[in-house]
Amino acid sequence: MSDRAFVLAPSLLAANFAHLGREVENVIAAGADWLHFDVMDGHYVPNISFGPVVCEAIRPYTQAPIDVHLMTEPVDMLVPMFAKAGANIITFHPEASRHVDRTLQLIRENGCQAGLVFNPATPLDWLDHVMDKIDLIMLMSVNPGFGGQSFIPSTLPKARAARARLDAYERETGKHIRLEIDGGVKAGNIAEIAAAGVDTFVAGSAVFGAGKDSDPNRYDSVIGEMRAQLAKV
Ligand code: DX5
Ligand code: ZN
Repeated sequence: MSDRAFVLAPSLLAANFAHLGREVENVIAAGADWLHFDVMDGHYVPNISFGPVVCEAIRPYTQAPIDVHLMTEPVDMLVPMFAKAGANIITFHPEASRHVDRTLQLIRENGCQAGLVFNPATPLDWLDHVMDKIDLIMLMSVNPGFGGQSFIPSTLPKARAARARLDAYERETGKHIRLEIDGGVKAGNIAEIAAAGVDTFVAGSAVFGAGKDSDPNRYDSVIGEMRAQLAKV
């Protein structure tokens, strides 16, 4: 896992699915840290993307951590399948699991880091009794289901509240938990989001929309611009 303070995790949802292996190689070569892998089931969210077989297919193309975001209901059935397919991190929406503590344990038993995802209207209270089983938390800054939506501004105060919780927990226990954000992140707002306490950034359309298959170097410039913005924080 990357030691960098700030982690950039491009979402493959916005990549060219006809050339996924090449997209993975190009975006990592351009400086991305993790790959964000959005799993949509057409039930928990109104869209369908890809599942464990696609994760398994891209796994040989990179050593970078694969950050699997499960937008599925139920959750547990897919956890061992994604672990086997090469996932390093698995996050899920607490509303979609009947037994949140059990799902977190299941993810860790399968050798992955575990995290909860909070929709824009989901309160952070879900963290209250499970902090010891969490490696990261992710705030949705759009409603899940589609790439290319606009960042919801009320996520910023929520990020500051989450950061305060995580800092207090780290002071108490020494344990560091990452704070990730997902939806509408671009070079133009990434500094403001980082200033609110976020350290891990998913960006789909902002990264893959900036390049063309024929011109993969374009990912270098957008990722470079994001890092330059983060360096100012
Ligand atoms: C939305 C997904 C996001 C999405 C981000 O349900 O979880 O990861 O792909 O895409 P952009 O960066 O385009 O908002
Ligand atoms: Zn996502």
